[in-house]
Amino acid sequence: MPVIREVLRMGEPRLLQRSRPVQAFGTPELDALIADMRDTMAHLNGAGLAAPQIGELVRVVIFGVRANPRYPDAEEVPDTVLVNPVLEFIGEEQEDAWEGCLSVPGLRGVVARHRRLRYCGFDAAGRAIERSVEGFHARVVQHECDHLDGILYPMRIRDFSRFGFVDVLFPGQEVMQD
Ligand code: NI
Repeated sequence: MPVIREVLRMGEPRLLQRSRPVQAFGTPELDALIADMRDTMAHLNGAGLAAPQIGELVRVVIFGVRANPRYPDAEEVPDTVLVNPVLEFIGEEQEDAWEGCLSVPGLRGVVARHRRLRYCGFDAAGRAIERSVEGFHARVVQHECDHLDGILYPMRIRDFSRFGFVDVLFPGQEVMQD
């Protein structure tokens, strides 16, 4: 049976804390946490989820976006579990795009993110992951890893004229879930 955990919403102090690194891989605790995160993200149709969003202050994020004909502009991102991630930006280039978050339901805001980066970390079994990515993939990684440092995307918005309710901003459009 899938386990759908409560996703904490902005205002909850745990979302503002710095999470601690995972110390041991392949443990029942880590496997259970990742299974809960996967179930919860799938249930809510999210693009990504960080452990602190379900109240677990450890450095684990998951993300992934499949090709969907309803959202032809959404770039595909491979299903990934990333533990103890480290990001290294490639170049100075940044770009603006709309973001949402399961912890900030119903809202969207434009956030500037680095366009290219390299990330490394570990999968659930402790195998090393290293990738160089750009665009939407790079954005998703930055958004999720921000959660591990207690940063929610509204804290990065510079222009609050581009922050609002998704159904008001994009009336009549089908938009991706948070
Ligand atoms: Ni988020």
